Amino acid sequence: MCGIVGYVGPRPSQAILLAGLARLEYRGYDSAGIAVIDGDGDLGMRKRAGKLGVLRDDLEATALADGTTGIGHTRWATHGGPTDDNAHPHLADDDRLAVIHNGIIENFSELKSELVAAGCTFHSETDTEVAAVLLGRAYRDAEGDLTEAFRRVVGRLEGAFTLLAMHEDHPGLVVGARRNSPLVIGLGKDENFLGSDVAAFVEHTRSALAIGQDQIVAITPQAVTVTDFAGQAVDVEPFEVTWDASAADKGGWSSFMAKEIAEEPEAVRNTLLGRIHDAGVVIGELEPLDDAFTRISRVIVVACGTAAYAGAVGKYAIEQWARVPVDVELAHEFRYRDPVIGPDTLVVSISQSGETMDTLMAVKYARERGARTVSICNTQGATIPRESDAIVYTHAGPEVAVASTKAFVAQITALYLFAMHVGRVRGELDAAASAGLVAELEAVPEKISTIIEREQTRIEQLAHWMTDTRSVLFLGRHVGYPIAMEGALKLKELAYIHAEGFAAGELKHGPIALIEPGQPVIVIVPSPRESALLHAKVVSNIEEIRARGARVIAIAEEGDAAVLPKADEVLRIPLAGPLFEPLLAVVPLHIFAMALSTSKGLDVDQPRNLAKSVTVE
Ligand code: M6R
Repeated sequence: MCGIVGYVGPRPSQAILLAGLARLEYRGYDSAGIAVIDGDGDLGMRKRAGKLGVLRDDLEATALADGTTGIGHTRWATHGGPTDDNAHPHLADDDRLAVIHNGIIENFSELKSELVAAGCTFHSETDTEVAAVLLGRAYRDAEGDLTEAFRRVVGRLEGAFTLLAMHEDHPGLVVGARRNSPLVIGLGKDENFLGSDVAAFVEHTRSALAIGQDQIVAITPQAVTVTDFAGQAVDVEPFEVTWDASAADKGGWSSFMAKEIAEEPEAVRNTLLGRIHDAGVVIGELEPLDDAFTRISRVIVVACGTAAYAGAVGKYAIEQWARVPVDVELAHEFRYRDPVIGPDTLVVSISQSGETMDTLMAVKYARERGARTVSICNTQGATIPRESDAIVYTHAGPEVAVASTKAFVAQITALYLFAMHVGRVRGELDAAASAGLVAELEAVPEKISTIIEREQTRIEQLAHWMTDTRSVLFLGRHVGYPIAMEGALKLKELAYIHAEGFAAGELKHGPIALIEPGQPVIVIVPSPRESALLHAKVVSNIEEIRARGARVIAIAEEGDAAVLPKADEVLRIPLAGPLFEPLLAVVPLHIFAMALSTSKGLDVDQPRNLAKSVTVE
């Protein structure tokens, strides 16, 4: 899970590489490095453990000769700790060849033993250096043809990789290859770019090409050549990036996460755009599968982390509106248990990045067994949508903070649209019912804005008082249950404190033993108007934990008077239908996790040990 960028053109490359890496730092930030072929045709390299700022400072203190061809890397360590030596690039062929890599080369230790036996020496513990050394040897065997050297090496590598390389002999050329790991091309005027995603080059061009699996690309200032691993020319899909560089900037906010929470209303609104017609839902991208939707007997949702919680919310809507059974599976568990899949199974993957390896592998596995696949994804040109039969893009815009916020509400919105589309096609959702649901969905952005305006300051105070809290529990029922888990995940990853989300009904089966005086518990309370029975049950759960000394923070609908005397704090959300409450109840939880992290003085956007896009299994 690393970020990679490559540049060839007329401009000095260092500033371009560093700016690209800054936009890709969400992919990994434990070390960074660049290599440049300077004006004299010499290859120079600098790399440092730590965030990109450490490398920047180093380059400012001691300049590296600049040039117009370069590659850059920001790392999330897999093989070998985050040290200067293990940072990328790695050099080979007498330090004349520089290589960067994203992914994991699974057979690297066999290859390394073979190379050591052949007399090669290594300077790092990484799998990448093995690829670099192999490439250096292949380059000599291929008599200085770098693209041919790539062809010879990729066949020897198992696992996932995007590799970029450049050689002193060829200023103005960067070559890359990808398998199960992302790589996109940016097309400029007399200059071209490579990047893990379009963020690497969007400030220079919005014109892009997506490279397919098992393909090799060579870029020069004037040309882009893409071939498969056998050397056959292939057509590549052009696309236009729909957002500009400013969308990926902080724009005056204290953190990307603060900006992205503020963008939650817009994320929902934009995801609805163009999909509502005559108060019903028609998703053009899904129409080729309409016939299949009438024949499916089950849906399996595969996703990880926050995306899986969005899936768990979506399950209620798909079952209720399309009347088809839904299982939600963590993608990394799915393919290891021989699941029952066939042509009547529809696998829906959810991924903000579209590059999560666990999810990608689950989708491929399902396809190989005859399932139809739909991808719900936020990133154009990403791998998972390209491996799926149909795509529903969430239009949340670029999400940079490692913790997912606006993508989550956009994912639920897309799942609801999907459920309504499939419900209509299957004859389960009539026009009147659809119109009511559409009206509810269209009202969500405004309601989220209301929550942010009304509750943000109070939530920040609450978080401030709770700075030293060591554990927080979250309770929910029905659609509130996945929201409780989402709230707990956000708190773990951002504030590094113990947090658990429970189904409220499960309390008495064990978790209630955790309650001791002062234990903070955040409870998502269902609407008393819409679900009186559920509401009563949750209120009685609150009484049970209150009786044991818990400090209760309730998230409840405006006007819910029953909850007031039972809770220590009540955060209010506007009135909404039962399935639309999750889109509102999650907002205070996102703000709370961010505020607690901030009050602890932690890095909200780049929490420790994590990366935004988990492109390794
Ligand atoms: O890019 P994806 O949506 O596939 O990512 C899935 C998870 O890795 C992601 O949601 C992760 O759990 C977030 N850090 C949660 O905030």
